[in-house]
Formats: sequence, C-alpha cells, structure tokens
Amino acid sequence: MTTVLITGAAGKVGTMLRPGLDGLDLRIADTRAAPDWGDAEALVGDVADPAFAAAALDGVDAVVHLAAHPVPSASWAELRRPNIDGIVTVLDAARDAGVPKVVLAGSVHTMGGYVRPGETVVDPAWPVRPCCRYGATKAFAEAYGGMIAAVSDTSVICLRLGACLPRPTTTGNLAEWLGPADLGGLVRAALTADVRTGAYFGVSANTRRAFDLTNAAHDLGYVPRLDSEAYASDLPSGRGGVCALTHYSEVPVVDV
Ligand SMILES: NC(=O)c1ccc[n+]([C@@H]2O[C@H](COP(=O)([O-])OP(=O)(O)OC[C@H]3O[C@@H](n4cnc5c(N)ncnc54)[C@H](O)[C@@H]3O)[C@@H](O)[C@H]2O)c1
Ligand SMILES: [Zn+2]
Repeated sequence: MTTVLITGAAGKVGTMLRPGLDGLDLRIADTRAAPDWGDAEALVGDVADPAFAAAALDGVDAVVHLAAHPVPSASWAELRRPNIDGIVTVLDAARDAGVPKVVLAGSVHTMGGYVRPGETVVDPAWPVRPCCRYGATKAFAEAYGGMIAAVSDTSVICLRLGACLPRPTTTGNLAEWLGPADLGGLVRAALTADVRTGAYFGVSANTRRAFDLTNAAHDLGYVPRLDSEAYASDLPSGRGGVCALTHYSEVPVVDV
C-alpha cells in the first residue's frame, strides 16, 4: 500500500484534508500533536531539522508538505525557518531517500501581484509575482522544488492553494475559495499524476475565480465541484487585508 507522509498535519489545511485521504497508509509529522488523524503513525518534531526530516521520510512513497508559517503579514524572522529552511530540508531529504513524489502546499499569494478580481484570470504560466513576503517564500519553494525535480528522480508538484475553508467567510474569498472536497480531490490528483513537476492553482470551481485551472485539469485531472457563488449572497465584505487578494470589497463576475 502507498505510504504518504503529511507534514503540518495538525494545522487547518491538514485537518480539512484528512477525510479526503481515506484509504491511504498515512504518517504525519508536526511540531505539535494532531488529534484528528486516527491510526496514522504520528511523529512530533521540526521538519527543518535534517535528522527529523530524514526519519519522517524514511520508507514513504510520497510526501504532502503542508508545514509552514501561513500568514501573509508575517515577518521574515517568522517565515525563514518553516518556509525556507523547512522546504530545503524536506526536499533534500526526499531526493536523498529517492521518494518518488512530493506535493507542496504553495499559495495563490505567489501570484497575488496579478490579482484584479473581475478583470483578470491569472494564468499559472506567468512569471511569479508575489503580493507579500509570505508569497515570496512560496515562490522560492516552487523554484527549489523545480530544481529538485530536474536533478533527481523525485517529482515535485506545487499546488497554489486558495483559501482553504469549509465555506467562504467574506467576499474576499469568492475568487480564491478551495472547499474541503475539492482540496481532497486536488491532493489525490497530484499524488497520482504522472507529471515530473509543475505549479497549479488550487481553487474550487468558483464562478468568480481569479485563477486559471486549465493546466490543473489537463495535467492532474483535477475536477473541482464546489462554487463559492452558492454562498455569495450573505457574505460580509472582505476589504482591508494586506494583499492584493483582499483589496476588493466586491468581486464581480467574470467570464472564465
Ligand atoms: N489555510 C489556507 O487557506 C492556506 C491557503 C494557501 C496555502 N496554505 C498553505 O497550506 C499549508 C498549511 O497551512 P495551514 O493554514 O494549515 O497552517 P497552520 O498554521 O494551521 O498549520 C501549519 C502546521 O504546520 C506545523 N509546522 C509549522 N512549521 C513546522 C515545522 N518546521 N516542522 C513541523 N511542523 C511545522 C504547525 O505546527 C501547524 O500545525 C501551509 O504551507 C500554508 O502556507 C494554506
Ligand atoms: Zn500576499
């Protein structure tokens, strides 16, 4: 059976992803305990520590790397160890262990500099244009992952996730929501796709989405089913965040 390591499993995305991974043999790794993972083998430690990362990756067939500091307004001091050292350590460990597949949790903030909801649907092939320091760390992760995929037998798939929430909570989420079932479908698609490397947006089939899903459908076979529009009528304004993604109080409909 395929054994998959989930790093950062105790966090919000890991908790939302858990039901979507039923049937896989799971190992989890986080700096804190993750109570919701049932029978999964649980390791507690820092994935930026090479010895811990090597032990965590030992014998696995794939890694879903979620562990990171996920806050767009975070300082460099907060971001550096989890988002830079952690990426390098996990990807180097995957290469050294010959792990066939790594799926990275990237972010739409890597491309947030392009975001103009209602005006632009961002093409994943455009050069990275982060909207914040956090987005820049995720751009580094994509570059490092692409390098590892080019120089080793490890395939690295970068998923530029949107807002992972049970349902949208503000109008700012309308363009970038990724609902629970679609998160599970996307990660499973990335785990099974025969693709050496690539960067793919991970959002639901939102009517007002700001991110193009064509390569995710073509390369990964990702078929999202949820649409933030179902919740649009009673959401509070999402205006006021630090990133271009959240500078819009209203997200108009755009043909995609
Ligand atoms: N939440 C979202 O909507 C969203 C959107 C886009 C991308 N992402 C990305 O998804 C991933 C998970 O985000 P989240 O929202 O669940 O964050 P979170 O903070 O809720 O969870 C992250 C988990 O990683 C763990 N962690 C952090 N550094 C670690 C380290 N060095 N070693 C081991 N464990 C470590 C933390 O203890 C935490 O449990 C991150 O990479 C984030 O950037 C999240
Ligand atoms: Zn940003």
